[in-house]
Amino acid sequence: MVAFSLNGRNVELKVDPATPLLWVLRDHLGLTGTRFGCGMGLCGACTVHLDGAAIRSCSTPVSQAAGRSVTTIEGLGGDHPLQRAWVEHNVPQCGYCQSGQIMSAAALLASNPQPDEEHIRQAMSGNLCRCGTYHKVQRAILSVAAVEHWQPAAEDAS
Ligand code: FES
Ligand code: FES
Repeated sequence: MVAFSLNGRNVELKVDPATPLLWVLRDHLGLTGTRFGCGMGLCGACTVHLDGAAIRSCSTPVSQAAGRSVTTIEGLGGDHPLQRAWVEHNVPQCGYCQSGQIMSAAALLASNPQPDEEHIRQAMSGNLCRCGTYHKVQRAILSVAAVEHWQPAAEDAS
């Protein structure tokens, strides 16, 4: 049995503790916003937050989430400042990598609300996009960082 907080709600599952968190999220809990890309921790498509930090859920056993707080793209609620900026800046192309991009960006802004371009480049370097949306991603993050008084969502501040 593994129990953890998921998007603010407690979940408890009978699952092999070695199962990757990504499979648990998608196959056991039906949260398909988190994507499978490489399955090896190399592309960032599967990025979620564990206690507010961006992690690769494909290479994280669910046992590591026990007693902790997991946030997925669904947990941002659809009206997160980054999600609005993604729309305003027309960031997605095929969209496949974008939930991972947003989760990495949200973790960055929670730890550093006003990153410069180099901070963003470094923080986002593990999130690959075969459609080449990197410049739009950076503009969208900068636009949120530039908003005076912007505060990270409560779940991202933990
Ligand atoms: S699917 Fe997890 S890093 Fe690529
Ligand atoms: S938008 Fe297509 S892979 Fe990033």
